[in-house]
Amino acid sequence: MTFKKLAELFTAAMMIANASALLPASAEDTVLHNAGFENGTDGWSSFGGPSVTSSSVTAHGGTSALFISGRNDSWQGAALSSLLQAGKTYQFSAWVFSQTSDTIQLTLKYTDGSGNPQYKGIGSADSAGAWAEISASYDIPADATDILVYFQTASGTNDFFVDDVVIKGEAGWSTEALDKTPLKDVYAQYFKIGCAATPSEINTPISQDIVKHHFNSLTPGNELKPDAVLNQAGSQANGDNVTPAISFDAARYTLKFCEENHIPVRGHVLCWYSQTPDWFFKEGFKSDGQLVSKDIMNQRLENYIKAVMSQIKTEFPHLDIYCWDVVNECYMDDGSLRPAGTNPKNQESYWSLIYGDNSYIEKAFTYARQYAPEGTKLFYNDFNEYIPAKRDAIYDMVSALKEKNLIDGIGMQSHLDVGYPDANLYKQCIEKFNQLGLEIQVTELDITDYDNGADSAKQVQAYHDIVNTIVEEKKAGANITALVFWGITDGTSWRSTGAPLLFNSDYSLKQTYKEVEALIPESEWGQSETEEITESESEETETEEITESESEETETEEITESESEETETEEITESESKETEKNVSVSKLGDATLDEAVNIVDVIAVNKAVFGKESLSPEGLANIDFNKNQKADSDESLALLKYIVGLVTEEDLRNF
Ligand code: GLA
Repeated sequence: MTFKKLAELFTAAMMIANASALLPASAEDTVLHNAGFENGTDGWSSFGGPSVTSSSVTAHGGTSALFISGRNDSWQGAALSSLLQAGKTYQFSAWVFSQTSDTIQLTLKYTDGSGNPQYKGIGSADSAGAWAEISASYDIPADATDILVYFQTASGTNDFFVDDVVIKGEAGWSTEALDKTPLKDVYAQYFKIGCAATPSEINTPISQDIVKHHFNSLTPGNELKPDAVLNQAGSQANGDNVTPAISFDAARYTLKFCEENHIPVRGHVLCWYSQTPDWFFKEGFKSDGQLVSKDIMNQRLENYIKAVMSQIKTEFPHLDIYCWDVVNECYMDDGSLRPAGTNPKNQESYWSLIYGDNSYIEKAFTYARQYAPEGTKLFYNDFNEYIPAKRDAIYDMVSALKEKNLIDGIGMQSHLDVGYPDANLYKQCIEKFNQLGLEIQVTELDITDYDNGADSAKQVQAYHDIVNTIVEEKKAGANITALVFWGITDGTSWRSTGAPLLFNSDYSLKQTYKEVEALIPESEWGQSETEEITESESEETETEEITESESEETETEEITESESEETETEEITESESKETEKNVSVSKLGDATLDEAVNIVDVIAVNKAVFGKESLSPEGLANIDFNKNQKADSDESLALLKYIVGLVTEEDLRNF
């Protein structure tokens, strides 16, 4: 389908949507999603490629909003999936902001009963330097599948902001899981019970409640992987070829959720052949650079691990990352080292390529031991470890690390199927690893049944056999410290067609859940430890928060002021504008207000000048007159905004 066609469809659908916006709400008023983007993208992600981040440049409520930038087409934007259900009615409210004049739209995408993609307008609002509300109601067709909603613009590719998205409707999910004894208490005497989750899996009230109720370990699904943490522009800007820049923009939502709810985190993962950008291995951190030497790579690895540890401590002072997968997936099923090469999709590893052997593993553990907070448990993690050749290669490697006191545990991912492996093979692996005297964690358990689907007799039996083996091995003395499921519901699992988890898509309990619960007799259920923050810690947080919000409040107030003033456009007389035509040189690029800082206040000042409300001082104008036309214009205001959020460099402004 062409984009023109899409646009036509959108316009037609918009008329229908506007009509439905007038209808009285028929669904219940449950808040299903409430995104303020204070700690991250709240489960919204890139739709079609642009950058989607939480930004404090401007906000409707609170201090941050979702910032969508780097778009190549009007349909590109930010999407939310896995919330809406077919046949239900929802009310949407969202605030949108564009620096330039734009119509920002909320669009529904789904696959219809005949398998065709459909795009329907839900609602839109016009913004030109002021926040505007999209408010609409929409009935999702009964035959819809793969449903998502996304923000886009009606035309053009301008950046825009979204804030305070509220979706209300009929809950459509089961809360029975919340009436059960928490699984973490059922297993309290044995080991932690965990789940992996991406932000979109924990952005609804029910999923958050389930995680808080049942799990005392959470693994961010993707957000602590190198490709989510490393920042290429920042790494290049560091300029020394060995210090990578990092950011927790992707992880912040999940880590804040865990910090606020005292949920211990499995850090996953520091060093891996996959989901690691290739520029990390190249000269100058450039995608087309030459491969770096082993010596340079050692320094990068050390600096990366050091930065991750120290920045987590600074940004999330009360977060408990109780263990880290330091290295993931280095061996093949036959026990050989992962092949050297530049194509991870083909199982190849840059690490093997640069080092020529497995010595990078010891380096990674050495740095992790050096920089991780004391007491953090360090793990090697892999899959198919029940295959004897692979198991033994890992055993030998880990054994050497243990000699040097560099490792605390082995992670068995355990992405299994009802057909393989049998529980006996799995047991042999636990027993072999246990000889090392280290912790063992089951880090990513899911058991598919691609032939018979959810809760087949085979699947329930497989869950019984595998988890029972884990419990029995623990009883027999194996130091198993966590059992983590890779995901929460079958609907959002990475292997959803094999329905491999404990919860159905609507969060009702599967038979697999009941089987796992029933393995522990009620007489053995206990109370899992809860993380406590000391009084002084909590006081500290309060003080920090007050200071932060106070200083940011001022910014928000100023934005509102400029918004209302922007609308009252006055004309600048010729003589006034001539006044600015003086030959003044640049004192600090971007500093319109001459306060020695470059921030949103300067953007506001430029806007006031653009709209003729206030003029800039000659020095202020010189600092923002990037196109040297002796006046402030909206292109410059936008460029300044981009500069502040790090999308363009000072050099870009100079070469405007
Ligand atoms: C591996 C990784 C996980 C995850 C799964 C697939 O097991 O360790 O991080 O990527 O694959 O989702």
